Amino acid sequence: MQNEWINNAFKGEVPSGFQGKVGWQCPSNIALVKYWGKRDKQLPQNPSISFTLSECRSETFVEFEKAGKFGFQFFFEGKENPGFGARIERFLLDNQAFFPFINQLNLKVESRNTFPHSSGIASSASSMSAFVMCLLDIEHQFAGIEHQFAGNFSVDPQKASYFSRLASGSAARSVFPKMALWGATPYYKASSDEYAASLANDIHPVFKTYHDSILIVSGETKSVSSRAGHALMEGNPYATARYAQANESIKNLLAALNSGDLDTFINITESEALQLHALMMCSNPSFILMKPNTLRLISEIRHFREETKIPLCFTLDAGPNVHLLYPDSDVEKVESFIKRDLATCCNQSRWIADHVGDGPKKMQ
Ligand code: DP6
Repeated sequence: MQNEWINNAFKGEVPSGFQGKVGWQCPSNIALVKYWGKRDKQLPQNPSISFTLSECRSETFVEFEKAGKFGFQFFFEGKENPGFGARIERFLLDNQAFFPFINQLNLKVESRNTFPHSSGIASSASSMSAFVMCLLDIEHQFAGIEHQFAGNFSVDPQKASYFSRLASGSAARSVFPKMALWGATPYYKASSDEYAASLANDIHPVFKTYHDSILIVSGETKSVSSRAGHALMEGNPYATARYAQANESIKNLLAALNSGDLDTFINITESEALQLHALMMCSNPSFILMKPNTLRLISEIRHFREETKIPLCFTLDAGPNVHLLYPDSDVEKVESFIKRDLATCCNQSRWIADHVGDGPKKMQ
């Protein structure tokens, strides 16, 4: 597949006067079974499963024009930001074999996020996948590679997932609607370490209605980057046991997603979140990424579930914020619970109402 992409890449002379602008929006995603630990060139140590979100997304536009050599400028929320752009530039230069035409283009990238920078929500999944969608869209314009896929895709989602993964692992999962699985597992035929696969046709309808209410415990930037966190798994004494456990979680979660077994879903999702944090606690150096209010919220959520029997559960990213996951049928009760009892534990009472979404969308 990779060789085919390299062989088929547009290697000709970009026509003079060639210019245009493309724009894509891509959502963030929240992992249920966590990717934590990588090997080789951005390959995961274990498979992961996520919900594709909707309201938390990146919107990226790329203006391109024929030039004598590769030119690159990156603007974040209206201001030139070479720091943020460096990762995309690196990604492009590392993957020139696939996109040799970039050496004849000036690219001006403008990106913004629909969620505040100070919300502690990682943006690499949405921003990297949105950029990759733009890049593949530009590629079409000369290669004449026409793919017609379901929905609003005009580019091959598998290829989009492959290149998103090379830019940021979790971004591989953001290009699919509803839910995605990234990483090879014997329990899902279409799975691969190289790209994610859509789970949309293999999940019970209840999961397509899921909400993710994100409780902002702290808006501070992360004390440890994902990149550094993944690297810490290399010396982690529990790494082997963790990877075996993650594979077990994948097997059981796939079955629960298929049958609509909410108790198993809750059990695995909460355990995975706590395992991620436990792994960071016993890394060397060690990190405690939860805040006191994270623990207060977890205890409130469990108590609420016990009392009401509403299938509300939580997950955590590699930070202190708490993601509340629940079906649409319980939205009113859960939102009043948030406003009444949980918002006081949030930074400036902030929380974001998100839900499962439909994946990337072309804007221009
Ligand atoms: C805790 O995808 O941000 O969110 O591949 O280095 O870009 P890189 O890491 P990244 O790691 C995400 C880690 C996680 C769990 C997950 O999303 O599966």
